[in-house]
Amino acid sequence: MSNIAILCSGGDVSGMNPALKHFVEYSLQKDLKPFFIYDGLEGLIDNNIKEVSYSDVSGIITRGGTKIGSSRSKRFMLEEYRKIAKQNLDALGIDMLVVMGGDGSFRGMEIFYKEHGVKFCGIPSTIDNDIHGTDYCLGVDTALNIIKTSIDAIRDTASSFKRAFVIETMGRDCGYLALISHLTSGSELCLIPEVAYDLNDYEEDFKKQIKNGRRYFIAIVSEGIQQDSQEIATWFEEKIGMESRVSVLGHIQRGGNPSIYDRLMAYKFVNYAIDGLLHQKNESVICYTKNGFEFKSIKEVTSKTKELDTQLLTCLKCS
Ligand code: F6P
Repeated sequence: MSNIAILCSGGDVSGMNPALKHFVEYSLQKDLKPFFIYDGLEGLIDNNIKEVSYSDVSGIITRGGTKIGSSRSKRFMLEEYRKIAKQNLDALGIDMLVVMGGDGSFRGMEIFYKEHGVKFCGIPSTIDNDIHGTDYCLGVDTALNIIKTSIDAIRDTASSFKRAFVIETMGRDCGYLALISHLTSGSELCLIPEVAYDLNDYEEDFKKQIKNGRRYFIAIVSEGIQQDSQEIATWFEEKIGMESRVSVLGHIQRGGNPSIYDRLMAYKFVNYAIDGLLHQKNESVICYTKNGFEFKSIKEVTSKTKELDTQLLTCLKCS
């Protein structure tokens, strides 16, 4: 019987708990002994590792976040701590890891594999959906649904008061969440880091819309744009002549009950990750594209910045 462990690294996403549940079930089905590594790569260094079974994952499928915790580990970047991590795994006979995280975590794992030969498979997990080589990262659907519910609610109050609302979404340097939310919520303006903009270009049209009876505006802006959300709100007040408010959605986008799609994707990602590890996929990321699930190398996933779908960007320009 081989021993296999799972950990979460970086920002948590809704879908990690369903993945943990299936990890335990599928490992046992495959005659593997499953272990949890708590608090991400920090827990790997601190030997916060425990063998688990069905009872450890009962009832967690409905919960956002991650039962086993996560971290952004600076120590794991240092060789001395990776050595300690390897000793901890050796003591428990663990030689396979499933890692839910982003490209930074996968880069760290690749170094770890090269130094110590610990096999791993990455599951792309970030609400930002900014990992090159995969169309989907775990947690994105739930985050988009939370954003949708928030925008719909803000629309109610915006229309009641004749106000412009600037709604800021997460995404770091990637505008995916803002773009999809804009296209699916019918907002009037969308600003993302990938597309240069000049607010002056909207002035005449927005004023005309008010003359024609528009009562409110919804602007969705991604956190990575060149301006602060408050500056966009000030522009609405000063140039468009409409009272405005800023609503930064923040960390609510990372939580919440995992959507059906994320539960299902969690299930599939875990199946592929474990099967891959059992079939000599020693250092890879399981990606999801229009071709289905594919294992990709760390180099492929980390060497380029993810580009947004050109068709969606075209929709942005004509919306
Ligand atoms: O990477 C996920 C993410 O939620 C980004 O969208 C955001 O910029 C960042 O993490 C926030 O990080 P923290 O939770 O450390 O504040």
